[in-house]
Amino acid sequence: MNRREFVKNAAVVSAGTIALSHSHIFAAGNQKMKVALVGCGGRGKGALENFIEAAKHVNVETEIVGLADFFESRTDEAVEKFGVSKDLCVWGSESYKEIMKTDADVVLLVTPPNFRPVHFEAAIRAGKHVFMEKPVAVDPPGARKIMEIGEIAKQKGLAVVAGTQRRHQLECLQTKSAIDKGAIGPIRGGAVYWCGGALWYKDRNPGEDDASYMVRNWVSFAEMSGDHIVEQHVHNLDVANWFIGRPPEMAIGFGGRARRKTGNQFDSFSIDFDYGDGVHVHSMCRQINGTYSRVSEFFTGTDGATWGSGPGKKKGEGFARQVDVADVPYVGSPYVQEHVDLLKGILENKPLNEAKQVATSTLTGIMGRISAYTGELVRWKDLTENEQSAWYNLTLKPAALDFENGTVTAPPDDIAPVPGKA
Ligand SMILES: NC(=O)c1ccc[n+]([C@@H]2O[C@H](COP(=O)([O-])OP(=O)(O)OC[C@H]3O[C@@H](n4cnc5c(N)ncnc54)[C@H](O)[C@@H]3O)[C@@H](O)[C@H]2O)c1
Repeated sequence: MNRREFVKNAAVVSAGTIALSHSHIFAAGNQKMKVALVGCGGRGKGALENFIEAAKHVNVETEIVGLADFFESRTDEAVEKFGVSKDLCVWGSESYKEIMKTDADVVLLVTPPNFRPVHFEAAIRAGKHVFMEKPVAVDPPGARKIMEIGEIAKQKGLAVVAGTQRRHQLECLQTKSAIDKGAIGPIRGGAVYWCGGALWYKDRNPGEDDASYMVRNWVSFAEMSGDHIVEQHVHNLDVANWFIGRPPEMAIGFGGRARRKTGNQFDSFSIDFDYGDGVHVHSMCRQINGTYSRVSEFFTGTDGATWGSGPGKKKGEGFARQVDVADVPYVGSPYVQEHVDLLKGILENKPLNEAKQVATSTLTGIMGRISAYTGELVRWKDLTENEQSAWYNLTLKPAALDFENGTVTAPPDDIAPVPGKA
């Protein structure tokens, strides 16, 4: 039996059995959860490891039933790391389709973000519970697709957990609880930061086609990553949306490119997010070596101020660790806790569904990026409601399906958007 046949045969037992098996797992306890991975890169292998560790915390056995990647060599790395058979592997731009035919209970979606809406839709339509890494889209239609499919997941009783981390991180949960209990009064403003060094980049190999180059060098192209205000800074924007309790109404900002050589991303962004009611959050993110680093969130309330994962200060009082904190069960790592919470939700038939919140925070980053690229003021409703807006249907190309259809044309290297003209 070749790999393809194996995966197809495995699929025969999946149809219609998933909902049943979940209640069975819960009733019997100590059962097996089958898992498959799409995107066997650094974070993909990490997420699978985290899933396996998390399963031990909830007394569930795991079995890897599929590994997919664009490149065979990346699946080989996963085979070696997890000590499984190469027969479980599929590769290529449509390998995710084979994964959805397996009897996996849970699918981990960890490719570059431009593929997420298509892969998420396939997973939910196939009846899989999903863990998906952040961000979940690169453009407004992609973010709205995640919201739409998230609703279908809800109707089907499927769990959806996102890798935004901080909503599963003890210190952030404590701070959020303290704010909710009035520790600093209502939030009146804040600042969120991902200022750090450069990430990796890849040069084009001799004779390499555009699709392969863009997949290997995805953190350089906005079409693949959303740019780093979306790809990396989404973590901090997500905290702002979570703590304030709503997305921003509009964004105005700027950014630029100074040191990058490949792709078309900016090196820095500075955005004023207006949350309405006089609440503004300044977002700044930068990827330049040798500059000041700060990765955190800060909020000012009517009665004090606090860092997202750090101490708070009430007016007239000294610094204190979080006040009046919730008793949050925590396994010591947000990367593992995400999967513990995913699995617990499945086992208890109370599936978490984080599709809307991660799509909202992804779209917040996209809104900031559009304001910086164009130099315009961008409204939330232009991306979510106003179909007449030029940005409502903004679709970055090449899009996910271009990789399946063989119609990828890479944008030129080192030509970035020019505000006022973009
Ligand atoms: N939460 C976190 O702390 C965190 C950290 C790192 C990365 N991430 C996120 O995880 C995702 C992956 O990042 P990474 O660092 O693992 O990148 P990576 O380049 O190491 O891995 C991505 C993998 O996906 C594969 N791939 C690309 N397109 C594919 C397709 N269409 N089908 C199947 N496989 C495909 C690539 O070949 C590669 O092996 C990104 O969304 C990134 O933002 C999150």
